[in-house]
Amino acid sequence: MGVGNVPVSGIIPGPQHGTDKLITNFASVNLLNLQRREDVMDCLVDATRQYGLGSGGTRVIQGITPAHVDMEQTVAEYLGKEAAISFATGTVANIGFVNAMASTQQFMAGVAMVNRDVVFVYDRDAHWSLWKAAEGLKFGERLFSFPHNSVEGLEEVLKKLKGKRVVVVIESVYSIDGTVPAMHEMVDVCEKYGALSYVDDANGFLVYGPAHRKFHKEYEGMRRATFIMVSMKKAVGLEGGLIAGPKDAIDSFELISGASSFTAGVLAPAAAGTAYITKLLAYREPEIVDDYLAKVADFRKKMLDVELPITDTETCFTSVVVGDERKCVELYNAYLEEGIRVPPYLYPAARRGGAVLRIILNAGHTDEQIDHFIDVSKRFLAEKKL
Ligand SMILES: Cc1ncc(COP(=O)(O)O)c(C=O)c1O
Repeated sequence: MGVGNVPVSGIIPGPQHGTDKLITNFASVNLLNLQRREDVMDCLVDATRQYGLGSGGTRVIQGITPAHVDMEQTVAEYLGKEAAISFATGTVANIGFVNAMASTQQFMAGVAMVNRDVVFVYDRDAHWSLWKAAEGLKFGERLFSFPHNSVEGLEEVLKKLKGKRVVVVIESVYSIDGTVPAMHEMVDVCEKYGALSYVDDANGFLVYGPAHRKFHKEYEGMRRATFIMVSMKKAVGLEGGLIAGPKDAIDSFELISGASSFTAGVLAPAAAGTAYITKLLAYREPEIVDDYLAKVADFRKKMLDVELPITDTETCFTSVVVGDERKCVELYNAYLEEGIRVPPYLYPAARRGGAVLRIILNAGHTDEQIDHFIDVSKRFLAEKKL
């Protein structure tokens, strides 16, 4: 069908893609194109020379670098949390979190962590990595779900679980439909029923939060959650995952998550780069994000002007709603023939029969590239391909 052929690209990920011939790329989640900045690349290269690439072992055994310490402190402070711990990717962070909170581990006589009674309550549209992390938990016994973004649905489930130790798992910006939940209300319900809350903020980290940007209120609500997870793949544009929260819990994750003791962590240059970029976007040059969001708003208007059926949300995660999986792959191929890469998201990334083409604007896209996408889409609409 055309999606099995993994594309090969010989340049830094971003607005274009390819080897000999470059095409316009709307697939990269490296939203801000920061690796192309000289200062960011210098930071990555300097850290590589200082620390190397290979870690030499897991963080529990071999330890971490000052770059990791700086990153974890910087991100924890930015998110308003006491401490943070990093993992190789956001997926590993999610797996480590659920493992830590769900398992019972006996370290030696008299020293154990007993979490066999903890139950998890997920938003139905939670990311694949979160569902994967909970695969070993029996649905209906230790794992429950509620309708997407429904505060009432969450409350109904929590009411039935009264008396149990509960962890509620939601996201800040859902990447397929681009929605942001009513975060204050979600956290209010968690607090009312004594549940811990875990927000996967892979998509909105460093993009949303400040008072002058959209979704400030929701992000203030998110800061009230017990734990916040971020991925460095999106706005930061590198690789890694990080969980921020209360210091005693974060410290315990070193041992009980399994993901710090049995696998490699964030590469040191990525840790140095994440600390650098977090300070850059949060404090030194927040206008990078403001300019990007203004560009997203213009792009969104252009798509609406030609009546593209896009998701009804103003986050930077925009999708063209297609529905049928086969049609979605055909459209992907049709755009490719026009020199545009717009990735199809099918089950299990999207719901069955809910396939979308996800369009991620990159800060480096030119007006010509954007207008070309709009012109091609307009033609596809007229030809009833869309
Ligand atoms: C909501 C959400 N959580 C987790 C992840 C996984 O992050 P990573 O790619 O760092 O493993 C993603 C990645 O796209 C995501 O969108």
